[in-house]
Amino acid sequence: MSNAAQTASTGALAPISSIHHAAYRCRDAEQTRWFYEDVLGLPLVAAIINEKVAGLEKDIPYLHLFFALADGNTIAFFDEPDGASEGQFQRTAGFDRHVAFLVNTEKELLEWQKRINAAGVSCHGPVDHGIVRSIYMYDPNGLQTEICLRAPGYDAAMAEQKKVAGENIRKWNARTRATKEAKFGAAALDRRTAQPSTRKK
Ligand SMILES: [Fe+2]
Repeated sequence: MSNAAQTASTGALAPISSIHHAAYRCRDAEQTRWFYEDVLGLPLVAAIINEKVAGLEKDIPYLHLFFALADGNTIAFFDEPDGASEGQFQRTAGFDRHVAFLVNTEKELLEWQKRINAAGVSCHGPVDHGIVRSIYMYDPNGLQTEICLRAPGYDAAMAEQKKVAGENIRKWNARTRATKEAKFGAAALDRRTAQPSTRKK
């Protein structure tokens, strides 16, 4: 979406421009490199060995991998064996997290699906979502990955969606507030800061 289409005001601040990287844990760097580089064709552009996490006293050796998209932005992974366990690499539901990459033609979408299936990675779809058409697969770490194509009329459809987006949040909250209060409590819903983690580091 172009900057001109944005209305959230940042005052004198330039808007945040794009996602530089999204980062996930991986089981194994080479296994992950195979999927992103050999199957999805995203070149490995960095694999940085670190002995400690900046700002922490404890030595935590890890490898930080970056794979580049055509626009120069990246998807990143951490290979940190000491803190890893197999349970972290179960297939995650798309509702919980997934990453969607973009292609620009139907032909490309179908050719990617063919190539991914030929590599032995089950790739299903295309699924029509109205605004986009998508194919889906899992990476070797259980992360759902999607490749999507903007549907014809995407910009106009999104412009229409934008008009009702705020109102849809209000409607949805009115419909689901009681369910969520029962589950999380009103205080958790109204809080604007994250709770400290109770997970063991
Ligand atoms: Fe998606």
